[in-house]
Amino acid sequence: MVIATSAPSCEANRSRDLGGVVIGIESTAHTFSIGWVDGVGVPGKSVSAFVRPVEGGIHPREAADHHAQHAGGILRELLSDEVVLSDVKAIAFSQGPGLGPCLRIGASVARSLAFQIDVPLIGVNHCVAHIEVGRERCDCDDPVLLYASGGNTQVIARLDGRYRVLGETLDIGIGNMLDKFARAQGIPFPGGPKVEKLAMEWLSENPDSTLDGLELPYAVQGMDLAFSGLLSAALNLVEKGMPLPAVCWSLQEHAFAACVEVAERAMAHAGKSELLLGGGVACNDKLRAMCAGMASSRGGSSHVPEKFLCVDNGSMIATLGRLQLLWGSPTALDESGVKQDLRTDETPILWN
Ligand code: ATP
Ligand code: FE2
Repeated sequence: MVIATSAPSCEANRSRDLGGVVIGIESTAHTFSIGWVDGVGVPGKSVSAFVRPVEGGIHPREAADHHAQHAGGILRELLSDEVVLSDVKAIAFSQGPGLGPCLRIGASVARSLAFQIDVPLIGVNHCVAHIEVGRERCDCDDPVLLYASGGNTQVIARLDGRYRVLGETLDIGIGNMLDKFARAQGIPFPGGPKVEKLAMEWLSENPDSTLDGLELPYAVQGMDLAFSGLLSAALNLVEKGMPLPAVCWSLQEHAFAACVEVAERAMAHAGKSELLLGGGVACNDKLRAMCAGMASSRGGSSHVPEKFLCVDNGSMIATLGRLQLLWGSPTALDESGVKQDLRTDETPILWN
């Protein structure tokens, strides 16, 4: 089956100049970040603070308190180093999905600031922001997207003015799985980068390593994925005495192969030749290499933005806010409430 779509172009987005800066505020979960984008869509630096729980997962109320404590300092730093307030044309914020208490801090800061300097307010979809910052930065026109973060793992394509989810995790996000595995080994959040480092060390010290004795369950279910079985099986391998770096390597090989398989099938079904990676797990060099290999074997191409734009950041929120302002309309105050369960395909995509 081939789903035909018209190929939009990022070019038209950049040829429109807003004549000023859009500020973006991110506060969906562990990160509070304020960043910006200029009038033609070039993202600036984000100033960020991260919740790093010593043990256990993120507590929404504690994370919200952290964001409230850091918001003023972060805004001051942005305005002293990066942005002149009189250049600001709009304030964008993550409206969802995310943790309610955390989202409400970002939304409150955004409303106050927009009111104070009398510019439009724009509520944006965090998942769509991960996509659009990559599309703008990598010059992809009409890619299949592999959005791999802590809370989300989705394979997406644009169809009829929405980003449609063609496949997704049925249980936990891939980053969440890596973080939980790492936490059980005493590695603090975020665990993904440390798992990557251990896996790389294992492979460089054991270049002829095979997956014999390190097999994990198959994580693909049709076009969907599931990672909790992988997590339990990997924890069992460590308990049975397998070296931790070897298990990290196997975990990455299995989990990433599953994502790449679904992404490849989506490219074939949707008749698209570009693959775009987004979300925090897209920082992983092994995942980047596997995606590049798959795309080139199909005669296509794989793209990923700079690492600081893959993890949650304010500039990606500003990037999407600018597009929404150029091609749509601002968010009215009485529509600016947060949406914890906002889905990727709920947001109309009006821009090229
Ligand atoms: P979302 O709300 O989009 O799910 P998020 O809250 O998970 O976002 P992100 O910053 O997009 O936040 O992603 C964070 C995740 O990325 C964490 O799970 C972290 O372990 C993972 N991660 C970051 N760097 C790497 C890496 N090099 N390899 C693997 N995973 C990584
Ligand atoms: Fe994210």
